[in-house]
Amino acid sequence: MQYGHFDSEKREYVIDKPDTPAPWANYLGSPAYGAIISNNAGGYSFVKSGAAGRLIRYRFNEQDRPGRYIYLRDDKTNDYWSASWQPVGKPLDVYKSICRHGTGYTQIEADYKDIHSESLYYVPQDADYEVWRVKLTNNGKETRKLSCFGFVEFTCESFYEQDQVNLQYTQFITRTYFKDRFILQTINENCLNALNESRVETRFFGLAGAKVATYCGDRASFLGKYRDYGNPLSIENGKLDGTLNYNMNPCGALHTVLEIPSGKTVEFAFLMGQKRETAANELISRYEDASLPDKEIEQLKKYWHGKLANLKVQTPNENFNNMINTWNAYQCFITFVWSRAASLIYCGQRNGYGYRDTVQDIQGIIHLDPQMALEKIKFMISAQVSHGGALPLVKYDHNPGKEDKPEDETYRKSTGHPSYRADDTMWLFPTVWKYIAETGNAALLDEIIPYADSGEDTLFNHLKKAIGFSLNNLGIHGLPAGLHADWNDCLRLGAKGVSMFVALQLYYAFEIMIRFSKHKKDSAAEKEMTELKERFGKIIEERGWKTDRFVRGITENDETVGKPGDPEASLWLNPQSWAVISGFADEKRGGAILDLVHKELNTKYGARLMSPSYRKHAFDGALALLFNPSTKENGGIFLQSQGWIILAEALLGRGGRALEYYLESCPAAQNTIADTRLMEPYAYSQFTESVDSPFEGRSHVHWLTGTASTVMVGSVEGILGLRPDIDGLRLTPAIPKDWKSFTMEKTFRGNKLNIKVNNPDGKECGCKKLTVNGTAMEGNYIPASVLKTENEVILEM
Ligand code: GLC
Repeated sequence: MQYGHFDSEKREYVIDKPDTPAPWANYLGSPAYGAIISNNAGGYSFVKSGAAGRLIRYRFNEQDRPGRYIYLRDDKTNDYWSASWQPVGKPLDVYKSICRHGTGYTQIEADYKDIHSESLYYVPQDADYEVWRVKLTNNGKETRKLSCFGFVEFTCESFYEQDQVNLQYTQFITRTYFKDRFILQTINENCLNALNESRVETRFFGLAGAKVATYCGDRASFLGKYRDYGNPLSIENGKLDGTLNYNMNPCGALHTVLEIPSGKTVEFAFLMGQKRETAANELISRYEDASLPDKEIEQLKKYWHGKLANLKVQTPNENFNNMINTWNAYQCFITFVWSRAASLIYCGQRNGYGYRDTVQDIQGIIHLDPQMALEKIKFMISAQVSHGGALPLVKYDHNPGKEDKPEDETYRKSTGHPSYRADDTMWLFPTVWKYIAETGNAALLDEIIPYADSGEDTLFNHLKKAIGFSLNNLGIHGLPAGLHADWNDCLRLGAKGVSMFVALQLYYAFEIMIRFSKHKKDSAAEKEMTELKERFGKIIEERGWKTDRFVRGITENDETVGKPGDPEASLWLNPQSWAVISGFADEKRGGAILDLVHKELNTKYGARLMSPSYRKHAFDGALALLFNPSTKENGGIFLQSQGWIILAEALLGRGGRALEYYLESCPAAQNTIADTRLMEPYAYSQFTESVDSPFEGRSHVHWLTGTASTVMVGSVEGILGLRPDIDGLRLTPAIPKDWKSFTMEKTFRGNKLNIKVNNPDGKECGCKKLTVNGTAMEGNYIPASVLKTENEVILEM
């Protein structure tokens, strides 16, 4: 079953069947003000942090309620409905709904009994409030008398958890007031004239462009006894009773009365945010100008589409195009901004950036907005501790040079993170490399950046320290210790147990450092890194390779994890893909291990993280055992790892396989099996249940996942073969044989490249001839120095 389709032109996903198998969400806003909205207007908003700045209440793991509700009522017949299908949920044979999720906005249209409604939800560019613009058109022959109600359920206080659980406290610090055009909610208002004024918060819910007829600021009065958002008593009655909140649950509800002649449209806007009374009043006045929302939507589109335009592909596969051009790219920005903090699954408890997650997320946007990436790179480098390890959680209000660290009880208390991860800083190497290769800005290596706790250093030395941290934390056999965990949160290999994934990452880090040292003409560093690379290469060979595969790790009892013949978890995906990505496995061995992966781990929805799932033979530190078989780290299809297998196949030039993996796990390619997948067909999720599950193909944990960036890298660098280095750009597409040609428009260091790839002989990789503006290049490499502002690039495969 299919619930919607991609509108590539407008960069929208259009849902025309509103009874989607799960709430299909979109993100609005910026770090200053974030909002999540489902196709049925469910969701919530927050200022800066989902954990500490929550404005709208949302009941997680329930029926997508409440949300930003707009109710409509025919005052002649007393019939009422909502401008989104839910919460009222009129029968779908008489109620039509179309939801357009776009870049930074969501528009929900509905048609019911000759009234066409359009509710457009967005947060203006750089603003800290939200707009719900409502347009109502009477398509009938008679004049209609309608009531329209806007409703929002405020949290009692900004700390999400407190609002949910500390009811004996939070309900008694908040009140609501009516101020002519808006409901004002105050929190801790008694502090206003006292010393601790900073504790006071005020929110508002207002109406611009129409007159408030009745109002309500108390949820119980709005809903009525034993009623729900789908049948509020006040909507049934056609008016709000004017009750304001004092020691119960606050809400903002405003009612306007409309008379719409046949063929006419009226428009107005509900507004909400965290503002004081005067600011709220000013804002509402601004939106009396009905032309403002359209202008602001244009601005948002310009902002987003401008970024996305930096890579535009036209391949024979529409699903690939829709994801790379718009949706995967947009998701990369969303994970970049919101980390793992706020979705309909992440309830907002994680109050900061996970180190590895964010350093990985940066990779997904480098080709689209290197400047934005640069700022975050510096920020994350400044969260490295002076001994080289990284803060596992970087607070939103991170204060470089002054942070406490995992060794300190205070850090553990405030973040809940007890110790260092083995892999955190290893992600810096591919990320910094990708940034410098994309931009040519190698001067960054000499830039001085503070450490999290104290002191400062050049970025190059920060990277050296990262390597030093791994070298200072070696376990048995001289390999990197698994520490608290590596990429796999569920692997406790023990203090002296070792991670082969990290060993391969380290091997790759040496390679990146060699490239940087060469560029800096730092021969001492080059020599040191080369020797280290050889030394670790030997240990990996000796301890990491068993018969036909790379193992996952070795426990401190010297038990090898992931070897042939193990009854469970005998083959792990990541060490195979990373053996190729790191350059450790050559083409022959790489090909063989990837064939083994394809045979043993691949399924119709992607390659499993490992197999067989743990049931009875897990070692003590294999926490994945706790998950049901074929779920998450216990042999599920952990989608982030699909990006790496796509990349690995592409690096070996096996384009057919790369695209096969791509399509198996591509949300857009699963648009027609939405009832199996459940999640949004335009956004990646964290994992898909696999063969052991009775629900094979079902996916979970939408939007905020490292999948976005790894699949993006696997596609752009891998399949499309855009592989820049410090001096230019290498073009190495790895595509299926039946892609006879494709085009790419890419911005590269301020220049435009119009690339045409021709593949008349049906190859999977390779370059017969490459021309730039008519001039033949050497091999498949374009030196940055030959580029003009506009370039015609033709690659014959
Ligand atoms: C989750 C975590 C990520 C971790 C992965 C594998 O996606 O956010 O940090 O690497 O799980 O355990």
